[in-house]
Amino acid sequence: MTEQPNPDTLYERAEHAARTVRARAGADAHVALVLGSGLGAFADDLEDAVAIPFAEVPGFARSTVEGHAGRLVVGGVGGARVAVMQGRFHFYEGYTLEEVTFPVRVLSLLGVKSLILTNAAGGLNNSLRQGSLMLISDHLNLLGANPLRGANDPRFGVRFPDMSEVYDRGFQEIAIQEAHAAGTELRRGVYAALAGPSYETPAEIRMLRALGADAVGMSTVPEAIVARHAGVKVLGISCITNMAAGVLDKPIEHSEVIETGERVRATFTDLLRRIIPKL
Ligand code: HPA
Repeated sequence: MTEQPNPDTLYERAEHAARTVRARAGADAHVALVLGSGLGAFADDLEDAVAIPFAEVPGFARSTVEGHAGRLVVGGVGGARVAVMQGRFHFYEGYTLEEVTFPVRVLSLLGVKSLILTNAAGGLNNSLRQGSLMLISDHLNLLGANPLRGANDPRFGVRFPDMSEVYDRGFQEIAIQEAHAAGTELRRGVYAALAGPSYETPAEIRMLRALGADAVGMSTVPEAIVARHAGVKVLGISCITNMAAGVLDKPIEHSEVIETGERVRATFTDLLRRIIPKL
């Protein structure tokens, strides 16, 4: 007798979700994109787009935060077919890191080889300004948890995956070149992920600076770790929506984060459109 796969394992649940997406959206995509707070508009301009609400993908949790529409949109960008997460799941919403990263598992099973992670972040480095774009060169996982904790399924990847080049150097070069061609400033920096949802204190920001962080946010790192586990290459870009706590003498407000995302939308969208066909 052949053994039936257990439908409850993470792999089987991710396969089930991938089958559902494939049945609704057709052909596989090679590039996927996760859009952060205030950056969701990119998904509205895809060619021949099929949009699937997160609630209709089996195994997906529901996004609760303002500024996240919560749809998986598959469509065309300059001849390339992309799967776009319009919104994401965050640790601070109360989801487990397995739930936060489940979409990346599904995307990897859909044949995605390149993943672009975008986010809204606070700027620590003095060369960053509100509205700057930062290319993520590396990260600090300060979530106090790792999405790969627990039993490892070798069908996804190895038990102890290498993290010495999470953000693909070749992709970084492409992003820098395309930013240059577009006349957009794009500096490399280290992204620190904290659990949130409270913003940092000025003392925490001083600590993060001492640790080598250039920007701080509440996402991206779990997805990047899971993508690398599955052998998916990663490009990360932060939109600096505000200067981090204590840098300027004013409080940080979520509305400011969303507004800045919307203000740089055209620049960000243009850069993504240039980069995607090159990956
Ligand atoms: N801190 C953490 N996360 C953020 C910030 C911030 O200043 N801005 C946008 N996301």
